Amino acid sequence: MNKDIILLRAVEVAAIATYKYIGKKDKNLVDQAAVEALEVMLRNERGFKLKVINGEGELDEAPMLYVGQMLGDVDNPDAPCFDVSVDPVEGTHPAANNFAGSIAVIAISKENTMLQLPEMYMEKLFVSDEFVDAIDFSKSIVEVANDMQIHARRKDLKCIILDKPRHQKTIEALSAMGIVVRLIQDGDVLAAIDVVNGEADFVYGIGGAPEGSLMASLSIASGCKMYAKLVSYKDIWPNEVETEQRVIKENAWLEKHNIDFDLVFEDTNLVNDQRTRFFATGITAGGTLKPINYRNGKFYVNAFIASHGIVRNIKTIYDIKKVNGLKPDIKYLFEKYKR
Ligand code: FBP
Repeated sequence: MNKDIILLRAVEVAAIATYKYIGKKDKNLVDQAAVEALEVMLRNERGFKLKVINGEGELDEAPMLYVGQMLGDVDNPDAPCFDVSVDPVEGTHPAANNFAGSIAVIAISKENTMLQLPEMYMEKLFVSDEFVDAIDFSKSIVEVANDMQIHARRKDLKCIILDKPRHQKTIEALSAMGIVVRLIQDGDVLAAIDVVNGEADFVYGIGGAPEGSLMASLSIASGCKMYAKLVSYKDIWPNEVETEQRVIKENAWLEKHNIDFDLVFEDTNLVNDQRTRFFATGITAGGTLKPINYRNGKFYVNAFIASHGIVRNIKTIYDIKKVNGLKPDIKYLFEKYKR
């Protein structure tokens, strides 16, 4: 089967596996279901290998989809290998509480083209294709937004921002400039999908760094543009117990890669492959990507794919009885995660 269909089906089945736990207030259950589903769907595929670059954590922290894990046709020396960034549930809190903001997502690129990113924060700007050549991210976000208004010759640009205390001043400043700000609680990758689908002009904010790899793949695959800078955990959470340990890990990563906090990343610094591919499926979703639904023996899923400047929003129906006959792996997952 075509590699794209295999990856698409893997994120669709990951979303289906979470359905049992949507709204059940347990982030771990929802995450574990999607992690297992993705791993099961990918581990026995033939014809290509996948290497997890950004996944569920280091081997000692995550039994499945850990950084460095190989999946697929691992014993076949002729099978091409792809780098992978994966977030089985991007937005665990909204999935566990059944409000908008969660998707299952995976991105692939040629071997050795993805940067492994640490568990830290990242200031990210994702802009629509209209602004590809109009951004200087060494400027402040207010100056950047002003440049975008001049470039577009309109004030009422639409922006999506994570509604966090750290963004309140920016939200006020952008609103005062005439920019229409949509606030979200979680899910900046999902917000970037809305930009690609023409619902907004840009996403801005400080969110997770590993999500930056997924957004970079999406940006390249859809012809948009993304910029980013790393932000220390201590700038966001100066007084938490784990801050000291986190900072030690951050510094080790920065030293290893000879990178500092002032460095501006472009999408291609994070994923250096124009042929990268991005796949997502709505869990509780929101915006232009609709959530998963179940009715009368069928799952209704909504997926999104981007590659080579081609963007697809796809509705799919899984008839459980028939799908169960397809493959023992799928039967196992559908039975285990039946609601
Ligand atoms: P999880 O998948 O880990 O729940 O992350 C969801 C998310 O909202 C991301 O989309 C975003 O980049 C990040 O968390 C923001 O982090 P924080 O909630 O710590 O501000």
